[in-house]
Amino acid sequence: MKLLSILLLTVATCASADLTGNWVVKDDLSDGTSRRQYLNLKQEGPKITGTIRVTQFFYKISDSTGGPEGFTITGTMMDGHSPRSVKYEGKLVGDELHVGTRRRPDAPLSELVAHRAPEGEGAMPARIPPPALHRVKDNGLVRTPPMGWNSWNKFAGRVDDAGVRGMADAMATNGMKAAGYQFINIDDTWEADRNAQGNIRTNKKFPDMKALADYVHSKGLKIGIYSSPGPNTCAGYEGSYGHEEQDALTYAKWGIDYLKYDWCGARNIYTDEEMQAVYQKMGDALQASGRPIVYSLCQYGRADVWKWGPDVGGNAWRTTDDIRDTWDSMSKIGFSQDELAPWAKPGHFNDPDMLEIGNGGMNDDEYRTHMSLWSILAAPLLAGNDLRNVPPAILEILTNREVIAIDQDKLGRQGKRISQSGEQEIWARPLAGGAQAIALFNRGGAAANISVKWADVGGKPAKARDLWTHADVSLTGPEYSANVPAHGVILLRVGR
Ligand code: GLA
Repeated sequence: MKLLSILLLTVATCASADLTGNWVVKDDLSDGTSRRQYLNLKQEGPKITGTIRVTQFFYKISDSTGGPEGFTITGTMMDGHSPRSVKYEGKLVGDELHVGTRRRPDAPLSELVAHRAPEGEGAMPARIPPPALHRVKDNGLVRTPPMGWNSWNKFAGRVDDAGVRGMADAMATNGMKAAGYQFINIDDTWEADRNAQGNIRTNKKFPDMKALADYVHSKGLKIGIYSSPGPNTCAGYEGSYGHEEQDALTYAKWGIDYLKYDWCGARNIYTDEEMQAVYQKMGDALQASGRPIVYSLCQYGRADVWKWGPDVGGNAWRTTDDIRDTWDSMSKIGFSQDELAPWAKPGHFNDPDMLEIGNGGMNDDEYRTHMSLWSILAAPLLAGNDLRNVPPAILEILTNREVIAIDQDKLGRQGKRISQSGEQEIWARPLAGGAQAIALFNRGGAAANISVKWADVGGKPAKARDLWTHADVSLTGPEYSANVPAHGVILLRVGR
């Protein structure tokens, strides 16, 4: 009898020492929401199979070593056409799974504790087939590129109600509203969960979205919000998957004027080829909401979005990965937009991402290049800095009305590179009434002379004005020549 119970105990211990199960790591955030990681493991002898879900990322285990006393697992997923992977190391400690990941192979292990969760919890929701394609009617909004502010570049997850009110107060009084800025856009991290009826709720940082929208409107401004066609957003918050019509109605009820719709968690459910249909769904939903809502697509320029953005009701579409506040990032993005020029038109613009002007990672010459280039590109001008305390030099860059007039030109056409010599480039943008914007960009690290021959830009103009010095330039001779600072720009408006 004693022998039998020892045997049974040994069997039980062995069974419980198995990694098989659905394991969850819970992380509660101060905004009242929580993040979950699920390791759904199956141990078959020396092999561990299963899936790993890190909020919006869903990986299949493709490789494993070890067992309960120490293991590593690698999960892989396809993100569009590129693979993405994650690696966990861990061991079983009593009823807990102690797991860790490393940012780099030589970085320390960030350790987490996972507990057993019911089977099925954390599974990706079932796929909802995308709708058949049709053309969504033009909403008639933003005939010139949208101008405003967005929370992400400076605040990321730290955006809240008080901050948004502060930005609205600042924009209304610091000259930006007068210069044409209009939208106050809340990016990711405002979301909580859904109520029993499936309506999306705001988290603790945004106690009353309707009241906030009323406040922003009371300043003569408009308000924008953010979501994803996937179950989760990029920051792991609740997305609009399966709730598109309901969310559009909620936004309309709150008084929202602008939606940025970010692919993110949708990558686990749909392929890039299905993006158009998925974006069309929200385009339809916004129109059916009865409120004019600017529709901004954010899917990092994949699947040639410029070719179908207008057909899904899109007013702007991101053309690149996320910008950072560095010369390398900004210039790489900005100067790579040349070939997209034919796709920009009133109501439908290429979006090389939000402005970093004033965030501190570039100097004023570089920020003038950023503002000039975005204006040549007919890009949305969404400031990404803290508007409550803007140094005068930065405010002058953001509110230069002569440069803004280039961005906001009624023709709505994007400029193009017309010549390049080493690190010096000349770009031109056609403007209404036969005028042109001509930009002399110096991408080099030292000042350089740049010349533009009038013959190369349609002949000698009757007038040419330098939009940063606010002075007319001399028109003697067959060309205009100037010394341009390192990473700097001369922006001219020329006219007959
Ligand atoms: C993506 C977008 C960013 C921002 C974040 C928010 O990375 O490209 O602009 O919206 O998500 O999580």
